[in-house]
Amino acid sequence: MSEGKTAKGADPAAFRMLYEGRNLISERPVVVLDIGKAYTKCGFAGESGPRCIIPTEFQCKATGITLKVFDYKTPDQLFQNLVDFVHILFFKYLLVTPKDRKVVIVESLLSPSIERDTLAKVLFNYYELASVCLVPSHMVSLYTLAVPTALVLDIGYKEAILIPVVENTPVLHAYQALAFAGEAVENNLKKLLESQCKEEEQFYLKAKPLPSSTIEDIKVRGCFVTRLDRAQMIQASLKEPSVTAPKPPPELVYPLGGERSITVPGTARELAYEVLFELDNDLMSIATMILDAILKCPVDTRVPLAENIVLIGGTSMALGLKARLQQELQDLLVTPQYIKKLALKTFCFHSPPAKENYVAWLGGAIMGATNSIVKRSVLKEDYQKLPKIPDWADLSFNCQDSTKRG
Ligand SMILES: Nc1ncnc2c1ncn2[C@@H]1O[C@H](COP(=O)(O)OP(=O)(O)OP(=O)(O)O)[C@@H](O)[C@H]1O
Ligand SMILES: [Mg+2]
Repeated sequence: MSEGKTAKGADPAAFRMLYEGRNLISERPVVVLDIGKAYTKCGFAGESGPRCIIPTEFQCKATGITLKVFDYKTPDQLFQNLVDFVHILFFKYLLVTPKDRKVVIVESLLSPSIERDTLAKVLFNYYELASVCLVPSHMVSLYTLAVPTALVLDIGYKEAILIPVVENTPVLHAYQALAFAGEAVENNLKKLLESQCKEEEQFYLKAKPLPSSTIEDIKVRGCFVTRLDRAQMIQASLKEPSVTAPKPPPELVYPLGGERSITVPGTARELAYEVLFELDNDLMSIATMILDAILKCPVDTRVPLAENIVLIGGTSMALGLKARLQQELQDLLVTPQYIKKLALKTFCFHSPPAKENYVAWLGGAIMGATNSIVKRSVLKEDYQKLPKIPDWADLSFNCQDSTKRG
């Protein structure tokens, strides 16, 4: 950069050289993005982990307020949010130019069409990417394990989504979705704190509620999923005062900065995750989701599916969740609802070679390093001719005379 030039008035050519620098020594690596409702994982194909996992939010240039990317009212607002957020990903974290680059987007098969279409518009029309390859998170997660058949349950932030995959094909009619995941656990913890902590602390909590980052930190570091027998005893004691509740775990003193702290009662630490196991209005929990999905699959696939359960998403990292799920499944098997329909004995969980919150990203990174993205990507030229992204939920792509891309 020539002398005396400020960063604001920097020479664009010099900036391009700076960002393209890494390309002089290697071929342009494919970028892999998994933009979740709470956290975004981004990095390069062929690498063993994402370069960063950051909250899916950005600072509004006009007001300086931090906004969540998927808090939008109109498609235009979503477009602008994504423009600002993708800029941060490329120019602050990945340090490469997006122009003429190949990108793999890891997405949920159930994500709203408006979000994937707007993302494609941002990537092709605004950032002029060379190609975009959208891969379903449940399927690519299995690339990390090299198993063709599994029951993949993603417990992320907004919802838990389960899709069985049989011989690398998602069994879409058997999918299950539950609107309870990390966010619901945080809301439950907040309620428990407000009702159970010490009186003087309750007063402070009402005057100045804890920020969501603090609630999340207490959840991740201080709460755990309790055993089924303890949960049942606690539930019974709440309904019937004559039943004595088990002794709660020790309380936790959580510092809030300065001299302030909050005492998290043992019962709140133990009960925060119970929302995931309580039956909702449709009589569903994360355990019934698994059995209901298996029931909807062909009979010959049921045992392999029960023996190949893959949990992905940040909330599935909660302490004790796998063990509790195992107990819940065994307990449900002998209930009248399932005993005559399912002849299963064991449920086995896989341990993927990465933390659960970025298993799907890793699957995308494996796929991005293979030749299959050449075949499966939508190219910029094709998108310019027909600005549409193939979508299984869109009949124009799934009828015999469907629009074909060159
Ligand atoms: N070690 C942990 N224990 C418990 N919860 C965790 C842990 N690590 C992350 N989480 C929680 O996982 C959630 C984020 O998970 P993830 O990154 O899979 O969500 P996302 O992909 O952004 O959401 P979605 O898939 O719903 O769009 C947050 O609620 C976070 O608090
Ligand atoms: Mg996710």
